[in-house]
Amino acid sequence: MLRLEAMSCGYGPFSAVAELTLQVAEGSVFALIGANGAGKSSTIMAIAGHVDLHGGSITFDGRNLSGVPARQRVRAGMGLVPEGRRLFSDLTVDENLTIGGYCRAAERTPENRARVLDLFPRLKERLDQAAGSLSGGEQQMLAMGRALMTEPRLLMIDEVSLGLMPKMVDVCYDVIRRLKDRGITILVVEQNTSRALEVADHVCVLESGRQVWQGTAAEARADSGLVEAYLGLAEAQ
Ligand SMILES: Nc1ncnc2c1ncn2[C@@H]1O[C@H](COP(=O)(O)OP(=O)(O)OP(=O)(O)O)[C@@H](O)[C@H]1O
Ligand SMILES: [Mg+2]
Repeated sequence: MLRLEAMSCGYGPFSAVAELTLQVAEGSVFALIGANGAGKSSTIMAIAGHVDLHGGSITFDGRNLSGVPARQRVRAGMGLVPEGRRLFSDLTVDENLTIGGYCRAAERTPENRARVLDLFPRLKERLDQAAGSLSGGEQQMLAMGRALMTEPRLLMIDEVSLGLMPKMVDVCYDVIRRLKDRGITILVVEQNTSRALEVADHVCVLESGRQVWQGTAAEARADSGLVEAYLGLAEAQ
């Protein structure tokens, strides 16, 4: 479904990620992991069209996304939960969800809203509350819900568990499993490696903008050298 071929991206002259090649199969969960500054967010933002491509290619459903604006990528079926969530903090939960659906599937906003509230019942009790006054876990639920309003076929989530209580992390990963069961393809960025390995089919480890390891989650768990060198390190942070 998603293919990166020697993808390089960055900011002006600065290169954040160099020659990354990966494929995300339809219906799978792919985890991008690595320490701070490894280039995880830059990769996800380049896929979403918010960071400049410096070389190589990104294809989605066989279509080369070079020059395709971010908004059209959403219309093509990409949903993004950005790092830091970037909610409209002065707007209510309900308004954030409604805005989420503007770009794609606006005509199905009521159905999609009902589906999101079914996935996250906690949001139902807080529809009129300002997004900025939600707890961290509730904000993550809202950010995921807002992205789901566009009926994405590929959902990209940057830092699922960062700063969340274990119970909230459980809720978010439970939803990820349910979305996978519905056939949604998921790309997660995680520093909590063990959580990512529980749900992922494939794993790519980045270090200083370069891919240092790639394989199945089972292979990652079985590779003690890898766990020691990268996975344990990422988890400790
Ligand atoms: N807006 C920006 N302008 C310039 N450089 C940036 C910008 N955002 C990120 N970078 C740089 O790109 C590199 C990769 O950063 P990125 O945010 O992609 O890493 P990350 O793996 O997501 O890290 P973290 O785990 O801290 O979120 C870093 O060296 C960072 O300083
Ligand atoms: Mg990041």
